[in-house]
Amino acid sequence: MEILRTVAELRHWSRESRSRAIGIEARNDGGNLIGIVPTMGALHAGHASLIRAARASVGYVAVSIFVNPTQFGPHEDYARYPRSFEADCALAESEGADVVFAPSVEELYPPGAATFVEVAGLSHRLDGQSRPGHFRGVATVVAKLLIATEADRAFFGQKDAAQVAVLRRMVADLRLPAEIVVCPIVRDPDGLALSSRNLYLSPAERIQALALSRAIRQAEASVAAGERRASALIEAARRLFDAERSSVAAEPELRIDYIALVDWATLEPVEIAAPGALFAVAAWVGQTRLIDNTILG
Ligand code: PAJ
Repeated sequence: MEILRTVAELRHWSRESRSRAIGIEARNDGGNLIGIVPTMGALHAGHASLIRAARASVGYVAVSIFVNPTQFGPHEDYARYPRSFEADCALAESEGADVVFAPSVEELYPPGAATFVEVAGLSHRLDGQSRPGHFRGVATVVAKLLIATEADRAFFGQKDAAQVAVLRRMVADLRLPAEIVVCPIVRDPDGLALSSRNLYLSPAERIQALALSRAIRQAEASVAAGERRASALIEAARRLFDAERSSVAAEPELRIDYIALVDWATLEPVEIAAPGALFAVAAWVGQTRLIDNTILG
């Protein structure tokens, strides 16, 4: 597995791969397609599932590892975001990545860089509301990656469901040729959605963090039992958080950022849980912000 550092190398790899594939005769199994799995590293089994999905779906797989400064707010965790490049490359290789793309900040944001991708409206909902500028940074870096790879398919986790909505809109609006493929949320056995930020949690916080997945499971069960009203689903989740909070005497703090039922395409709130609606939770566990969600059936 090769490690590429520049956009020129990545584009060269993509074009070479594609021209090699053309010789293979027309195929309809995706073997002639280029796929990309964008990540910020600190890879875990959630990322691995994306790489596996890509491996099974396209002929040529690039994994990008880039802690993207523009998607972090000034007081967020950019500087201390976990970085484990060697282990990440080993995992990417073992899951079948053909190349890892790991550029410097200057490579993706040349000196004087002044061009950003803003998905109006959507970028300011859910995580975009509590993290101003976050989705602008995400859309900008993913646009750069999709343009550089000329990818046919790009693989993302449902874990970041609002991110998926923003990127789908961006790809449609910019008429980028990439298809967005969404992969299921990978969880620890106790339910906690895997996240690179779980590394920040103390043992006590790790237990508190289960409030998120419990709230998600509770909403799924309520909908299965016939509850459809957003107000009832959200109120029940709030009560669950209150109960969790009062069950521990003091710190660590558990604080809701948002609990919302929205249309997954527009991220606009909905009153009734129609099939395909996104029920999403974000909460602070001490200093760590975690998210979780479910697409209601
Ligand atoms: P990162 O948080 O590293 O996540 C990379 C990809 O892995 C995202 O598509 C995310 O949804 C997916 N992922 C994370 N945890 C997952 C889990 N438990 N199950 C399934 N998939 C999971 O998301 C980003 O990086 C960045 O915003 C990025 C898109 C790379 C742009 O910088």
